[in-house]
Amino acid sequence: MKKRAVLSLIAAGAMVASLAACSSDSGGESGSGDGALIGVAMPTKSSERWIADGKAVKKALEDQGYKVDLQYAEDDIPTQVNQIENMITKGAEALIIASIDGTTLTNILQDAADAEIPVIAYDRLLMDTENVDYYATFDNKLVGNQQGWSVLHGLGLTELDGTPIEGAPAGPFNIELFAGSLDDNNAFFFFDGAMEVLQPFIDNGTLVVGSGQTTIEQAATLRWDGETAQSRMEDLLTANYSDDTKVNAVLSPYDGISRGIIGALTDAGYTKGDAWPVISGQDAEIDSVKAINEDEQYATIFKDTRELAKKAATMAIAALNGDEVEVNDESTYNNNVKDVPSYLLQPETVVKDNIKEALIDTGYWTEKEVNG
Ligand code: BGC
Repeated sequence: MKKRAVLSLIAAGAMVASLAACSSDSGGESGSGDGALIGVAMPTKSSERWIADGKAVKKALEDQGYKVDLQYAEDDIPTQVNQIENMITKGAEALIIASIDGTTLTNILQDAADAEIPVIAYDRLLMDTENVDYYATFDNKLVGNQQGWSVLHGLGLTELDGTPIEGAPAGPFNIELFAGSLDDNNAFFFFDGAMEVLQPFIDNGTLVVGSGQTTIEQAATLRWDGETAQSRMEDLLTANYSDDTKVNAVLSPYDGISRGIIGALTDAGYTKGDAWPVISGQDAEIDSVKAINEDEQYATIFKDTRELAKKAATMAIAALNGDEVEVNDESTYNNNVKDVPSYLLQPETVVKDNIKEALIDTGYWTEKEVNG
């Protein structure tokens, strides 16, 4: 009897130990990551979207039992290089990187390759290197098309998908053009995509770029910075719209830039409801969603960062385990060295009418956040 009781105690103890081992192994719902470390490098916390991206990537990896080193570089390139270097030193087994300047990480990516660490470019393509394995992003040219179409729609020229509207006004409408940061490959996709749909209207005189600044170099905004955009918009207004001529539309590639543009317009005496221009955007940042709801900004492009985060995490885990990585585009994203196999998600245009359906019903923002 005594002996049997001791044995069953030992058995119970072993069971508890093996259960404990089990749960610490899995580290999450369905995880099998065995606690391996994955480094996640994000550009900046100054924009809401990257904060949401970072959180969502971390959660997706932790749910699968991985440890995560998540770092933000506050748009400082040497800081991002150091952070990635530290991740490699700490033994990261995969890297997910949203770069500040896609061309500046070639040396550190060579170190990652030497250590056989797979690298996933997150939303921004890593340029000039063979040492990027996969790219998780959205259909960026479509984002640009949608930005152009949203401007045309706001002016009553087309439907939101670019379909011409019969009996549309002949214009001419004055427009100014903004682009993103030239060290971010996406800036070219957005601008080219937008110009593809705007150019025919410029060519036939329906749209007039008052300043004549139509190249991406002239329209660019270093680091996508809202204040930089605000001061360029102020200069454009002073130089080209100081008489009775009004600007009727502004192509903006990102919500933070749109807010800078709105600031410049307000300072120059434009008032909502009275010849207020049509302004595009991107990222569905909450302040801009509110601005759309209040008729200050016309549209934004919603890119569901929750989906992108899940996709990038799945790609990193598959790559790290030597499993097949699912991609759906192998020819669009050339980084000057190779075509990077990519997974593209679909962006969606949001205007006042579909804020509820696109952003609230999907749980991206709550009704209170939008209306509060
Ligand atoms: C992203 C955009 C974002 C921009 C500024 C781009 O690389 O694709 O979603 O608006 O960076 O952060």
